[in-house]
This record gives sequence, structure tokens and C-alpha cells, in this order.
Amino acid sequence: MRLLAIARQRDAAIQETSIDSVAGLAGSVRVPGDKSISHRSIMLGAIAEGDTHISGFLEGADALATLAAFEAMGVPIDQLGDGKLIVKGRGLHGLQAPVESLYVGNSGTSMRLLAGLLAGQSFSSTLTGDVSLTGRPMNRVALPLREMGAEIVTAPEGRPPLAIAGKAALHGIDYVLPIASAQVKSCLLLAGLYASGRTTVTEPAPTRDHTERMLQGFGYVVERNGPTASVLGGGKLTATAIDIPADISSAAFFLVAGSITPNSEITLQHVGINPTRTGVIDILKLMGADITLTKLRDVGGEPVADLVVRSAQLHGIDIPPALVPLAIDEFPAIFIAAACATGRTVLTGAEELRVKESDRIQAMVDGLLALGVDVRGTDDGAIIEGGPIGAGLDNASINCHHDHRIAMAFAIASAQAQCDIEIQDCDNIVTSFPNFVELACQLGLSLELA
Ligand code: S3P
Repeated sequence: MRLLAIARQRDAAIQETSIDSVAGLAGSVRVPGDKSISHRSIMLGAIAEGDTHISGFLEGADALATLAAFEAMGVPIDQLGDGKLIVKGRGLHGLQAPVESLYVGNSGTSMRLLAGLLAGQSFSSTLTGDVSLTGRPMNRVALPLREMGAEIVTAPEGRPPLAIAGKAALHGIDYVLPIASAQVKSCLLLAGLYASGRTTVTEPAPTRDHTERMLQGFGYVVERNGPTASVLGGGKLTATAIDIPADISSAAFFLVAGSITPNSEITLQHVGINPTRTGVIDILKLMGADITLTKLRDVGGEPVADLVVRSAQLHGIDIPPALVPLAIDEFPAIFIAAACATGRTVLTGAEELRVKESDRIQAMVDGLLALGVDVRGTDDGAIIEGGPIGAGLDNASINCHHDHRIAMAFAIASAQAQCDIEIQDCDNIVTSFPNFVELACQLGLSLELA
């Protein structure tokens, strides 16, 4: 599928007026449910005792891959529509051996978290994924799981598929994560539920803590002390109700679009603002963005707010490296903000972006270069000079490398582009934001799927 994003500056030309006086983006929308929390709601619901009632579930391909994996392991899940589900938990030891390999598509979260959970089962299983996932590193989970006693075979260089042998008796370990990764941390905590003794993970920088919070919501004790979280194996999870907030990673596209488009005001409803996820708000505010949080509330252990974004002239900054893990999925959108800002933005400490659904540094640099932006990739980030987007071009073709967030980032770039932007192979937008085009058009962008 191709996505055609029509330059907003075209509207200005048609109206024979200056771009600044064209109506901006406006409206109030609720973006789909948080992807990270959606995955975890199925996983923990499946191994809990009793029925877990979920609302706000992201019905996107990635979270649905996790859902299908648990159905394949004998967990009944009622899909009631509109993000409502009932997971009929089988208890910690109630999963059944899947008949076939578990295929999790594009979803790194499914594969890495499931690896931990499956390492503790009495049956063997194999995890596979699509071309993008098959190129991603899995030794970061396979190595510590083997230290816990798991038997895991990967393809060369630690790539998927992962063949996980059953009957391994796991034992708790004390593991210091070499990289800041919520997926690795969560994988080990899930394996720790099945291990003898205590499993302790220490992270080099704070990462999303939805696993820790949700385990506690299911009545499982997680000891947390600064950068360390630990669980004692052999407890039990008790079913609960989970109301999943809207995904700040999806909201981020509209935070940027609203900032860079003159005369805009957008409200994003019921967004999760867990402090381990709000780096994008902090970075955009450092760049001069006008973002207000209203109606702050707590929903089932996760903080939630409505976000109001108004247009603002952004300026380049040196992005503080400490904010990088707290905004790790939002850099495609932040690159667009930087390209629309005055001056230079420098990103460092973000080498993890090279092993996401695509090499996101390279994909964003190549796409911005195609739009005439002055940008240079570095090993761990990029240097972006703000300026016009698509100056002197009729249209530009962008290769998003089948990466949902690269595709959506270039779609919102059309808000300030002087040329139309055609994004190739954007089917994977459905992995995290199935109604992106609809909501973006509702707010005033001109996007067409072909
Ligand atoms: C996620 C953790 C992050 C993030 C991914 C979702 C999670 O990955 O990029 O989209 O749900 O735990 P890493 O742990 O690899 O940083």
C-alpha cells in the first residue's frame, strides 16, 4: 500500500494566500490504546486466575499477534469489539503446548516478552516473525534466559526464530542490563515468575515500567528499588479489570503535527502519561512546543491526561541523552519536528534506533534527504538543520522500510512540506495505529491511501 500525503502548502497556493493564514489542524481525538500495555494485558491476563476484563485494547496487528499466540496456547479470549476483551486466565501453569510455531509478525515486544514466559513452560515452542523481525537481535533475551537455565536455540547471530525447549527448570538470577530495554527487563521478570528464588533486574536508565505496574495490579509482589525490580517465583496472579489509555507513541505524531502547523489546536484525549513514556513531551517542550496537560487522573495504576497542543515556532536543541529511553519510539516524529525547527538539533545516545522495526536513524535521514533537508546520521543519532521541507520539488518518494512509525512520521511532514510526499509500503501502520489516516484527515491533514 502507498500513502499519498498532500502538501499543506498546496492549499495555500490554491487559496492564493500565505501558508500562515491557511486554517490549521483542529479537533479532539482519542488515538488507539497503548501498544505496550495491550500486549501485557493479554499476557498477564492469560496466566492469571479468573477473567480479566480489558477495555481500550489496541486492535492493531502487533497486539493481535500476542492475542493469537495465547489463543494457540489454549487461552479463551472473548473479543467483544471496540477494544473490549475478556481473557479467561488459565493460571501460571495452565497454558497448553501450541500445535504450530507461534508467528508474531512484526512485533518485537511479543517475541521478547513471550520468550521469557515460554522459557518457564513445561512444553517446547518456537517463535517466528516477519522479515523485519527476523533481522532483529534476540541474544539480548536469549543470553540472560540461558543464565536462568533456559534452553533456547536461535538462528545465526542470535536472530529469530527462537526454539525454546520445555521442561527447563529456571532459577532466579541477578542481572544488570547492558542496554536500557523494557523488553529485556520484562522478559526476565516474566521468566522470573517461573524461576526458583528471586529474579532481579537492574537497568542502566529508566525504561517503561508497565510490566512492573501491571504485575502489581494482578496482585503479584514486585520489589522496586531505584533502577532495580525483582520478583520471587511461584506466586499467583489474580484477574483484574484493565482500562488501557491511549498510546502516547501514537499521540506523538499529532503533538508534532499540531506544533509545526500554524493556527492549530488539537486535543488528544485520555493519553497515558506514565513518566517512563513522556520524554517526547519534554523534548518538544525544550524545543518550544506549546503542550498542556489537563484532567490528570490515575486509571488502574497508570497516569492519564488529555493533552492540548497548539502551534509554536520550534527551535533546535541538543536532545538530553537521559531523555532518549523515555522517548525511544517517538524519534521518527521528533526528527520531523527538528526539520521544521529553526536551527540545529543534535541527537546522541540513540544507537538503539538502529535495531528497531527498521534502522530508524538511516530511514529518517534518507527520507529527509529526499525532501531536501540538511541532515546527517551519526553512529548514535543525527544532526538535523531545520529548514524548508521539499523546497523546489513537486513530490518526493519515501521508503519507510515497512516501518509503521517512519511511514506516519513522513505523513505528518506534509503539514509543513512544499511538495507532496508519497510513502511506499506503508501497510504496517496497522501494527500500532490502524485508524491513523482517518484521524489525521479528521484533524485536517490530506492523506490518501492507494
Ligand atoms: C517496548 C519497549 C521498547 C519499545 C517497543 C515497546 C515494550 O523496546 O521500543 O516499541 O513494550 O516493552 P526496547 O525494550 O527494545 O527498547
